[in-house]
Amino acid sequence: MFFASGSGSNFQSVIDAVKNNEIDAVISGLITDNDRAGAIERAKNHNIETTIIPDFGSQDADDKLIKYLTKWEPDLIVLAGFLKKIPDHITRLYPQKIINIHPSLLPKYGGKGFFGSHVHRAVLESGDGVSGCTVHFVNEKYDEGKIIKQTQVKVLPEDTVETLAQRVLSEEHKLLPEVIKQILNK
Ligand code: GAR
Repeated sequence: MFFASGSGSNFQSVIDAVKNNEIDAVISGLITDNDRAGAIERAKNHNIETTIIPDFGSQDADDKLIKYLTKWEPDLIVLAGFLKKIPDHITRLYPQKIINIHPSLLPKYGGKGFFGSHVHRAVLESGDGVSGCTVHFVNEKYDEGKIIKQTQVKVLPEDTVETLAQRVLSEEHKLLPEVIKQILNK
């Protein structure tokens, strides 16, 4: 099952890999905190059940979350551009079963406030010559769980936030399905 807040292009990369039989899995459902997330349409196009939980973090939201986790019984929970923190008591229920994709080479540019374009802006401001993306296990600390795999990309002198984001995102679309396959189809 997936959590996504945004356009859902990473979610789509896994939907495609499942459709193309590159990954042997069933995507049981999508949870989003954003009723305008592009991920919702992508789920709909592929008959993936979706639940919108706008008040994520509240008691009601937690109850709803538990209800769907119980219903879907996921072997793996994938955070694909999900911008809220999963409550600690839920993270603890799924040790080594929740993964997240992050658009930097963690531990660099991780933690609160580092998401989407903020990450790429910080990389450009630092003058780093390489950036990339990371898939890691989720624990109670933001972006600090064990790293599973990373891909590096070059940072070019002429890069803008948008060009760097695009180069990293293209690699995310390969890395995420690859890691999911590695975990589920051992
Ligand atoms: C991706 O770049 C993902 O790595 C990032 O949000 C984007 C979502 O794009 N996640 C984070 O910054 C998490 N801290 P998408 O909705 O098109 O998959």
